[in-house]
Amino acid sequence: MKHTDIADVIGSQELVGKEITVCGWVRTSRNSKSVAFIELNDGTSLKNIQIVVEKGDGDYKEPRVGMSLKVCGKAAAGRSNTVEINALPEGITVLGDAPTDYPLQKKGHSLEFLRTIPHLRGRTNTFNAVWRVRSVLAAAIHEYFQSHHFVYVNTPLITGSDCEGAGEMFQVTTIGYNTEYKSEEEYNANDFFGRRAGLSVSGQLEGEMAAMAMGKIYTFGPSFRAENSNTPKHLAEFWHVEPEVAFMELDDVIALAEDMLKFVIGKLLDTCPDEIAFFDAHFEKGLKARLEELISHEFGRVTYTEAIELLKKSGEDFVYPVEWGCDLQTEHERYLSEKVFKKAVFVTDYPKEIKSFYMKQNPDGKTVAAVDLLVPGVGEIIGGSEREYDLEKLLSAMKERNMNLDLYSDYIDLRKFGSVPHGGFGLGFERLIMYTTGMANIRDVILFPRTVGSIR
Ligand code: 4AD
Repeated sequence: MKHTDIADVIGSQELVGKEITVCGWVRTSRNSKSVAFIELNDGTSLKNIQIVVEKGDGDYKEPRVGMSLKVCGKAAAGRSNTVEINALPEGITVLGDAPTDYPLQKKGHSLEFLRTIPHLRGRTNTFNAVWRVRSVLAAAIHEYFQSHHFVYVNTPLITGSDCEGAGEMFQVTTIGYNTEYKSEEEYNANDFFGRRAGLSVSGQLEGEMAAMAMGKIYTFGPSFRAENSNTPKHLAEFWHVEPEVAFMELDDVIALAEDMLKFVIGKLLDTCPDEIAFFDAHFEKGLKARLEELISHEFGRVTYTEAIELLKKSGEDFVYPVEWGCDLQTEHERYLSEKVFKKAVFVTDYPKEIKSFYMKQNPDGKTVAAVDLLVPGVGEIIGGSEREYDLEKLLSAMKERNMNLDLYSDYIDLRKFGSVPHGGFGLGFERLIMYTTGMANIRDVILFPRTVGSIR
């Protein structure tokens, strides 16, 4: 259908006086004796275009909110440097009706209500802005890596090995409920792949294999976790950005994470000023200043052991008690980034017992070269490490965890043939969007959230 995107009309004064066609959904409609006003939005801009209808003697039927229209008219100068469209009733074609039970009749619906209509919520300003920020951040991530010699690789979503070893893999099976098989082994042997398979929790293991050939790679795709965590920051299906780099040690991993985040957030501030102003006004006062501050200052850095001391000295009444060896909970992460450092902070060198088998073992025998990035408001958004590249040490870490080495034979082989120091990290894409928009619930930054007990 020949028409112009509203984003290309709304600020384009050079179009004034020209015949123009736009399409979109009616956001509001006002009718008076001789003129009517329609606010139309086609999703290409946060801003609506105003259609001024000169009713004359024409047969004007006021459109209902939610209807889709095609409008042919003349571009005219509107308020605050915008362009509006003057149309006659015969220039307006209804493409799709929206009866009065259209759920978005009024403004100001709660986010909880909007979650019940995920197929329609993109037609609100909030989700219009979230989906665009998501898209711009994704493009910026690709731009960053592509311009730094990284190769984009697509790692498998169905896998036979659990990367994080945390038992959070969804099983992939074509058999389903059955009493025919006597044991799990028999069931798996008869299943599609002839052995147990699951949805990947991370592309890291395959990413490491690619990095051992291409040097610098990144993945950007979905990861799946059957975590029974009904929290505002956990999804069963989330998007994961995972760079993996040969010849990189922990300090390099940290520098890469900081540089990449600063680039993508800077790009967002440049590309989406309207959306950031919108979130600043409606969701988090001071958001813009916080993001500007983030990209112009160095992130904090602390070891896990120092962080535990800070938490113990805090005098805070945490729900989860703090002792060396404990996993940091969101309340601890937020305390460190919001109260102590008041900015993004890298926490490094965690106890080996609470981290994954593949992390490089530190000389102290107790900790591994791991890093998490904690940010105010969200907590952890990045988890990464230097990898154990010594074959014997890797095998001993896997054996300590009673892992089935056969499932990781390719990964182990990598340490036999030209093994090199290397490392990488995983960025939770939705958590980055939460952080950059001020949206407090991860369900509101992905089109169709999948969470424990909920799917549609
Ligand atoms: O810290 P995680 O578990 O690290 C890994 O998966 C490594 N294999 C990454 C690597 O080194 N290549 O996860 C990385 C990030 C977390 O910091 C978090 O932002 C996000 O992935 N994440 C989740 N996001 C939403 N919902 C969940 N259930 C998530 N689990 C992890």
